[in-house]
Amino acid sequence: MSHTGPILEGKGDTDYERYVRVPELLDLQKPVERLSNPEERLFQTTHQAAELWLHQIDYEIDRAVPLIREDKLIFAADLIDRCKRIITLLRDQIVIVETMAPADYHVIRTTSLGRGSGQESPGFNKLLNVGQRVWPAFEEVMARSGVTLIEIQRDPRGHHEMFRLVQAMMDYDEAFLNWRFTHMRLAFRIIGSKVMSLKGVPAAQLEAGTREPLFPKLWETISDLTAEFKPEY
Ligand code: HEM
Repeated sequence: MSHTGPILEGKGDTDYERYVRVPELLDLQKPVERLSNPEERLFQTTHQAAELWLHQIDYEIDRAVPLIREDKLIFAADLIDRCKRIITLLRDQIVIVETMAPADYHVIRTTSLGRGSGQESPGFNKLLNVGQRVWPAFEEVMARSGVTLIEIQRDPRGHHEMFRLVQAMMDYDEAFLNWRFTHMRLAFRIIGSKVMSLKGVPAAQLEAGTREPLFPKLWETISDLTAEFKPEY
């Protein structure tokens, strides 16, 4: 009897395919004969992969919040750092789509997307409230320890664990804003800044999103700290 064949249940000839569910996954892609043009495959793959990774971030944020409440700040910072790395990957993924010619995208846009829009992305929309999910837990920790944000910034080594968490939140925030900026540049490059989206929203509105941090108080505190340092000359 062979000891090399698959042992897991599922479709596919190998345990790799059965575990990853490769046949089902690839079935989610539009068949080649139904693509509006050959470039559509990249467009669909990018969005499908993005939804999986956005879902993963949502999952990790759900793990990070209770860790903050339990004062396991470094563990929480590690998970938020992981989320930042995923967002950075998603930003790099956006850049791949810049290789698409605008004329090719217009064929996809007018024949395949219906009234669909990135604004309807469930994964992205859940991440718009990462600030509201994480911030109350962090405020609880500060209140329990009797430490304020500006005190953490004044003495980062004295409040090392809280400072590490602050840095992780800022890294994540920055990565998210960078994603939004890169996506805005992609949209301007492919359809221009004046065009109305398929939802009737001007593409230029994307610009507002590049100026909306998830943790505004963290950024304000940096300005407050700077104001405390006056040159002596
Ligand atoms: C041909 C490339 C693309 C163009 C021209 C484009 C265009 C746009 C425009 C005009 C909007 C704002 C208004 C609306 O959606 O109705 C938007 C929003 C959005 N798109 Fe794209 N997009 C492109 C590629 C992508 C990719 C590759 C992703 C993700 C993988 C993505 C995800 C999103 C998300 C999440 C939003 C909401 C963003 C926000 O509110 O800041 N888009 N896109």
